[in-house]
Amino acid sequence: MTPKRRIPVYEPLLGQQERELLDDCIRSGWISSIGKYIPRFERQFARFCDCSHAAAVSSGTAALHLTLAALGIGRGDEVIVPSLTFVATANSVSYTGAKVVLVDVTEDTWTINPEQVESAITPRTKAVIAVHLYGHPCDMRPLLAITRPKGIKVIEDAAEAHGAEYSGKRVGSLGDAGCFSFYGNKVITTGEGGMVVTNDAELDSRVRFLRDHSMDAERRYFHPEIGYNYRMTNVQAAIGCAQMKRINAMVRTKRTLAQAYSERLRDIEGLLLPPEKEWAKSVYWLYTVVLERAFGISSAELARRLASAGIDTRPVFIPMHQLPMYATRRRFPVSERLSRNGLSLPSSPSLREKDIDHICGRIRRGKSGGMHP
Ligand SMILES: Cc1ncc(COP(=O)(O)O)c(C=O)c1O
Repeated sequence: MTPKRRIPVYEPLLGQQERELLDDCIRSGWISSIGKYIPRFERQFARFCDCSHAAAVSSGTAALHLTLAALGIGRGDEVIVPSLTFVATANSVSYTGAKVVLVDVTEDTWTINPEQVESAITPRTKAVIAVHLYGHPCDMRPLLAITRPKGIKVIEDAAEAHGAEYSGKRVGSLGDAGCFSFYGNKVITTGEGGMVVTNDAELDSRVRFLRDHSMDAERRYFHPEIGYNYRMTNVQAAIGCAQMKRINAMVRTKRTLAQAYSERLRDIEGLLLPPEKEWAKSVYWLYTVVLERAFGISSAELARRLASAGIDTRPVFIPMHQLPMYATRRRFPVSERLSRNGLSLPSSPSLREKDIDHICGRIRRGKSGGMHP
């Protein structure tokens, strides 16, 4: 039987307000990287993150690369990165010529392990990238206690965590800079896009300089160093401004959906639910479960069974040390286990309660083998 409606892992929420601001860009002709929506989006996003500065860029990857470049990180330096992340985190370090130093994540946050960071520090360590994975904040207090006295910078990769909080403070405002993505499946979107937020005025102006081919503010076409074109367009920023009207509702909705999933899945043997530490407010970017042996089938098999019922899922990221360019002989068992056994479930803000009933019902049937053809 063909399923009636496929449930995607994620679909963005776009509507009349996005359409109106996009129409304005087209009517006015301001479709490139100059226009009123860029500074407006930057101001709104800085305020949302409780930061004094925000610079809009072309992607989350660009945000990370620019931040590292603006901090002067390059060849001969080391940057500590969790093995369990999306590849952009590690690649942004490689773009600068610095060395990626991997550490594992913790069982109870799925994010960077501060103790392993401490052991990985060498005289060459210039920065740590703290990835707030799947919308759950990293444990920032121990991380900052280790890095601050040594002058090591902490960059938050908050690509998946808009609106998440650590002890009541919004992510992005906790380290030296926060990098966000506005790709189509993120908490808010601009299609492609990113943002660097910081309370450091000097860092912000370096990011702005480098994102625009390092052009001298006083002398057009004078470029004293090699920069990049990492600008955001006014069209993207217009969508961003419209999305900012929804951002608080989006965070609330994602938390409500996560609660609905957890209520329905809590009693299933062998199914670990996503973490939320007592100091954390997660935004559950993708609601992700981990299958233990007691569940009876593998995450890949459950994904297949759900797909045949019209339900899309995503595997968890492959850890960096299992990719050819970052391969090492060291093992990162927590990252490996989460990657092997994790599965992200549909997490669109438009999901209805009856969709969640349907998905959770199928997970139960998948476990008991009832969905075998
Ligand atoms: C953890 C993480 N870092 C960085 C990025 C890169 O963002 P973008 O796709 O906007 O370049 C993403 C997502 O795509 C991500 O999930």
